[in-house]
Amino acid sequence: MPKPKAAAKQAVRAVPGVDKKPRRAVTSRSRAEYPTYDDRFRPEEAIVAEGPGVLQPSNLAYRDDARGLYLYHGECLEVMDRLIAKHPDGLFDVIFADPPYFLSNGGISCHAGKMVKVDKGAWDKSRGAEENHNFNREWLRRCQQLLKPNGTIWVSGTHHVIFSVGYAMQQLDFKLLNQVTWQKPNPPPNLACRYFTHSTETLLWAAKGPKSKHVFNYADMRRANGNKQMKDVWTFTAPKPDEKTLGKHPTQKPVALLERILLASTARGDLVLDPFMGSGTTGVACASLGRRFFGAECDISYIQLSLRRLEAAAFNLGVEVRVTLLATNDLELIAERIDPIPAMSIEGSPSTERVFHEAKFVFLSCDSVSLANVVHTAVDASLEAAWAHAPDGKKRQTTHIVRCETEIHRLKSH
Ligand SMILES: C[S@@+](CC[C@H](N)C(=O)[O-])C[C@H]1O[C@@H](n2cnc3c(N)ncnc32)[C@H](O)[C@@H]1O
Repeated sequence: MPKPKAAAKQAVRAVPGVDKKPRRAVTSRSRAEYPTYDDRFRPEEAIVAEGPGVLQPSNLAYRDDARGLYLYHGECLEVMDRLIAKHPDGLFDVIFADPPYFLSNGGISCHAGKMVKVDKGAWDKSRGAEENHNFNREWLRRCQQLLKPNGTIWVSGTHHVIFSVGYAMQQLDFKLLNQVTWQKPNPPPNLACRYFTHSTETLLWAAKGPKSKHVFNYADMRRANGNKQMKDVWTFTAPKPDEKTLGKHPTQKPVALLERILLASTARGDLVLDPFMGSGTTGVACASLGRRFFGAECDISYIQLSLRRLEAAAFNLGVEVRVTLLATNDLELIAERIDPIPAMSIEGSPSTERVFHEAKFVFLSCDSVSLANVVHTAVDASLEAAWAHAPDGKKRQTTHIVRCETEIHRLKSH
C-alpha cells in the first residue's frame, strides 16, 4: 500500500450519516480495557425484592422505575400467565409482537454479499404447520386477555407465519384493523433466482374485540405524511449499522418502524408489551417516546443486548466524541497514524461511571468531506481490524476513513 501523499490529520465537523459532534476529547484505550455494561450486568443482582407487583421477582431481569421499563427473562407464555393472574381484565394499551417466523429450516439467503444458511436460532425452527399454529393461538390468546378493552396489537411476520397469525386472530375474535406492508427499499438479492426478491414484511393491526374503540392518532399520521392520509404501505430500510453497534440480533426491527407504530396507536405514558423482545427495539422506541414498556425474552444474551440499548437510549450527558480524518486517498493502515485521543480532564468534571465505550470506523467515498457518502461502517478495536473485516467491494470505493470514539458516562448521585 503506497504511503499517503498528505497525512491530512485534522479534526472535522460532524459528517452526514455519522452525526456525532466533536466535543471534548476522551481517552483512547483499547476496547478490552473498558468495563462494558455486560461486565456489570448480573441477572441475579438485578432481581429486586418487591418487583413491579405483577410477577415473581425471579423473572425480572431489569427494572427502571423512572422510565417505566421492565424486562423479563423467560418463556413468554409463562410470563403472560403470571401477568394475567394479577390483571385478568387487561393491563396494556398496546402490544407489539414479532414472533418466531419459523423459517430457519435449511434454506439459503444472502448476507453482506455472501451466501449463508438461514439459521436464526432454535427458536425459529418450524415444528410443523399444526403445532406452529397452536403456538400462535396460545400466545395471541394471552395477549388478547392482557389488552385493555380498547387496546390494540400489532404483529409482524412474513408469509411463513402471518397467515396463521391472521387466522388465529379471526378464531379468537380480534377485530382486524389494518394489514400494513413494510417495504424494504434495499433487500438482499434472491440467490436462487427462482423467486421474486423478498422485499416486504406484513404487520397485522387488530383491536382486542369487536366492540373495542381503538386509538388511532389520525392527525399525527396525516401530518407525518405531508398532510395527506397515510397509506398502509410503509417504507423503512432494515436497521442501519448504527442500530447494531451494541450487538446484533438476526431479526432486529428498525427503531423507526416501532416509533411509527407507537405514534400511530399510543399516547405518552401508555403501557406497551413486547412478548418476543429480541434486541429490545420496542423498548428503545418506548424510551425515546415516553411510553412505558414490559418486554419478555427467553434468551439471556438478548436481554443483555436490550439492556445495553436501553442504557444508551437513556443517556443525556457525557457522550463525548472526537472525529479525526486519517488520510486522503492513499490509506496507510498503521494504527499509530491515528492520533491517540488525549485523556479526559477529570478536574471540574462531574463524578461519573463509564457504562459504554466503542471505536467506530466510518468508510467514506468523497471528493471532499462535505460531499461524503458513507459506504461502510464497522465497530472494531483498531483500524487494521476494521479494514480486514470490510468487504473488498467497499474497500475499493473508500477514499477516507473516519474514526469515531464514543463513551457513555452515567452521572453518579451528587
Ligand atoms: C423475531 S425475534 C424479535 C426481534 C425483535 N423485534 C427485535 O427488534 O430485536 C423473536 C425473539 O423472541 C424470542 N423468543 C422466541 N420464542 C420465545 C418464547 N416462547 N418466549 C420468549 N421469547 C421467545 C427469541 O429468542 C427472539 O429473540
